[in-house]
Amino acid sequence: MKEREKVYSHIKKGDSEIYRAVSGEIDRQQEGLEMIPSESYASRAVLEAIGSVFENKYSEGYPKKRYYGGQKYTDIVEQIAIKRAKKLFRFEHANVQPYSGSPANFAALNAVCAPGDTIMGMDLRFGGHLTHGWKVSVTGKYFNSAQYTTDKNGFLDFNEIEKLAKKHKPKVIICGYTAYPRTIDFAKFAEIARGVGAYLLADIAHIAGLVAAGEHPSPAGFADIVTTTTHKTLRGPRAGMILCNGNPSDPLKPIKNPTKKDLPTLIDRSIFPGMQGGPHIHTIAGVAVALKEASTKEFKAYAKQVVKNAKKLADIFNNRGLRLSTGGTDNHLILMDVTPFGITGKEAEERLEQIAISLNKNAIPHDPNPPYNPSGIRLGTPCVTIRGMKEPEMDILGNAIADTLEDKKNIRKAKLAVKELCAKFPLYKGL
Ligand SMILES: Cc1ncc(COP(=O)(O)O)c(C=O)c1O
Repeated sequence: MKEREKVYSHIKKGDSEIYRAVSGEIDRQQEGLEMIPSESYASRAVLEAIGSVFENKYSEGYPKKRYYGGQKYTDIVEQIAIKRAKKLFRFEHANVQPYSGSPANFAALNAVCAPGDTIMGMDLRFGGHLTHGWKVSVTGKYFNSAQYTTDKNGFLDFNEIEKLAKKHKPKVIICGYTAYPRTIDFAKFAEIARGVGAYLLADIAHIAGLVAAGEHPSPAGFADIVTTTTHKTLRGPRAGMILCNGNPSDPLKPIKNPTKKDLPTLIDRSIFPGMQGGPHIHTIAGVAVALKEASTKEFKAYAKQVVKNAKKLADIFNNRGLRLSTGGTDNHLILMDVTPFGITGKEAEERLEQIAISLNKNAIPHDPNPPYNPSGIRLGTPCVTIRGMKEPEMDILGNAIADTLEDKKNIRKAKLAVKELCAKFPLYKGL
């Protein structure tokens, strides 16, 4: 029996329709290259943890303070995850219960803001996330949202950010992005936030793996609150975390005039009972495993290579005369204007899908085109790096992408190049 049939023998027997979809998705992931920068491949150990019997358990509350019985092992798992998160990211308090990045962001804002308070984040069209105060998000509806943009080359413009902060006096300034290819200067943000008495929230969802490995400066010592997903560069399961400094106080004691020292309590209360019910302990078990993996030297080598690969790709694109936002990258992602090819981001995404590369259309800073058909694409290197690819493969890949965008006629040849890379760098080998 093939390993896949063994691993999924119960689904195969009990629900052939879902088995076929699972099996098809394994093939799709193995036979194509994933270049969506917010994706990665979780290890088999992480996959086992999230498929464990913790799935069955309700554990509302926090370790040693639960509302249900039978918590001997859930407490162990959550405490380990918390301990590892605090150590890896160098914060004194960690809440590992957020179901994902979006609820983590809302919970963090809800912890320190009342409805109608002002928050300030990056405009979605310039690289910010929906939950940084974009108008259709609950964060843009419950809170008064001021939004900053970038300069004309796509770089953060600290003069503009400071001016806006002084004008709007936000309660929270959010930094950390969905589509920003450059290093974030957390110290500069902290200075601006301090100047206007705002909390600094660093959403490191995209770069968490790079931060953990020291490949991007840490927000520790600068941000009051850090939110993150655990499933992007960090390579864990789909979940979120919130980090801050201090210790939580008595969960039942009211807090009159909260200060920074109350952040752990405010954040914990905002997650539960504020926003969520029972934590997904099976996912938290996966987060714990991923955090352990992220502290290894193998993970450090992966994160280093992620950045090297992205820089190599950017060099190739630049050499071929393509237009990159900010001219290149410092991290795992590249934002490219594809309009010089006479196509839009949507067409580029579709064309690259034909050579088995998945990435996403994306607005570029100051994009004249609408969000559903923007001028650019966003691509990243975590997944190809996990498969073991290095600079020589980026050479092949970068040129295959550029060829495909340049002329539809090159699709056949580029598709073959991608196929060869997939065969040479297998994913979940044997599965
Ligand atoms: C910077 C940032 N924050 C938060 C999120 C939201 O995470 P999730 O999709 O897990 O809700 C994302 C997702 O892409 C993101 O890029």
